[in-house]
Amino acid sequence: MAFNLLDKFRKELGIDLGTANTLVYVKGRGIIINEPSVVAINTRTEQILAVGHEAKDMLGKTPPHIITTRPLTGGIISDFEVAEKMLRYFIDKVYEDSALNFLSRPKVVIGAPVDITEVERRAIGDAVMNAGAKEVWIVEEPMAAAIGSRMPVREPIGNLIVEIGGGTSEIAVISLSGISTRKSIKIAGDELNRNIMQYAREVFNLLLGERQAEEIKIKIGSAVEMTETMEFPMRGRDLLTGLPREVMINDGQVREAMINSLRVIVDSIKDIIEITPPELVADIHERGILLSGGGALLRGIDQLINRAINIPVRIADDPLTSVVRGAGILLDEEDLLRETTVWPLSSK
Ligand SMILES: Nc1ncnc2c1ncn2[C@@H]1O[C@H](COP(=O)(O)OP(=O)(O)OP(=O)(O)O)[C@@H](O)[C@H]1O
Ligand SMILES: [Mg+2]
Repeated sequence: MAFNLLDKFRKELGIDLGTANTLVYVKGRGIIINEPSVVAINTRTEQILAVGHEAKDMLGKTPPHIITTRPLTGGIISDFEVAEKMLRYFIDKVYEDSALNFLSRPKVVIGAPVDITEVERRAIGDAVMNAGAKEVWIVEEPMAAAIGSRMPVREPIGNLIVEIGGGTSEIAVISLSGISTRKSIKIAGDELNRNIMQYAREVFNLLLGERQAEEIKIKIGSAVEMTETMEFPMRGRDLLTGLPREVMINDGQVREAMINSLRVIVDSIKDIIEITPPELVADIHERGILLSGGGALLRGIDQLINRAINIPVRIADDPLTSVVRGAGILLDEEDLLRETTVWPLSSK
C-alpha cells in the first residue's frame, strides 16, 4: 500500500540541457519548463538573481556587479557550478506546487551531444545528480531528437537526422537503436548570430548586441533567396562616432553574413553520407533527411540542403522540443531506454 502511494508520486523527468535553451518534461504532465539557459549573478553577494527568460532579458544591460552567464558552450558544460544551480532551480520549479516535494528524488533522462569525452559526459551526469536526481540516463541528442520525432530508430533502417541547436550541429545516422555514423560541429544558431554581428561591424561600422543579431536572424534571415525581399532596422553603436545609429539591413545581406557557416553545416552532412555504409545510404536516399533543433527554423535551410545533396529534406514538427520529447518517451519505454542510453548514473 505504502509502495503504491509512493509510486503515484514517483518523479521522472526528461531534460534537454541546451546551450541556448533548457527544457524539462515531466512524466504525466508534459513540457513544464522551456527557458533560455542563462543565469544572472550578483558578483558582490555571489547570489543568483535570475534564471531563464528573466536573466536573458538582462543580457548586455547589467551594471558591473551583475553578470549574465550561459553555463554551456558548444553543448558542453563550461561553468559547472552555475549549470548545477540552474538545473536545481528548474527542477525545484517543476515541483514547487507539490506538497510532496520531499518524497522522492527524480529519475532523469538527459540529452548530451555526440562525440563528447567521458569527462564531459560525467560532468553532465554529476551536475544533474548534484541538482537532486536519484538516477541519470544520458541519451545522445540526435537519438533523442529522432525518438521525439517518432523516427523508426529500432528498425534496420537508416535514419539521417540533423539537429541544429544553438551551440552545436549534430548529424547522425541511426539504425537498430544505435548511431552508425555521427558528427558534431560547433557551428550552429549562435554562430549565425555572431556572423551577423561581424557583418554589421565590417560592412556598416556598427556594433551590434547579440540579442539584436538573433532578432535579425529570426525576423529576416534565410538560407536561400526568398521571393520577397525583407528589411530590418538594425540599431547599434557607430564605431566611428561612438553614437547610436540605425541602419537598414536586408535579407540578402543577412544571408551573405551567414553563408559560410551554412556551407560548413551542409558539407558536414555530405561528409557523413560519404562514410555511411551503402545499405543505410540507400534508405536515406529514399526516406530523406530530418532537420531538428532551433536552427531548423531558419527559412529555406531545408531547400539549401536539398539543393546541395539532392535528397528530400523534412523539418521536424516543433523542432525546438524534439530532444526533450524524445527524453520523455524514453521515460515510458524501458527497453528503448536501455538500448539507447550511454550509461546510467545512480545515487545507490
Ligand atoms: N525562427 C528561427 N529562425 C532561425 N533560428 C532560430 C529560430 N528560432 C530559434 N532559432 C535558433 O535556434 C537556436 C536554439 O536552438 P535550440 O534550443 O535547439 O538549441 P540548444 O538545444 O539550446 O543548443 P545545443 O543543442 O547546441 O546545446 C538559437 O541559436 C536560436 O537563435
Ligand atoms: Mg539542443
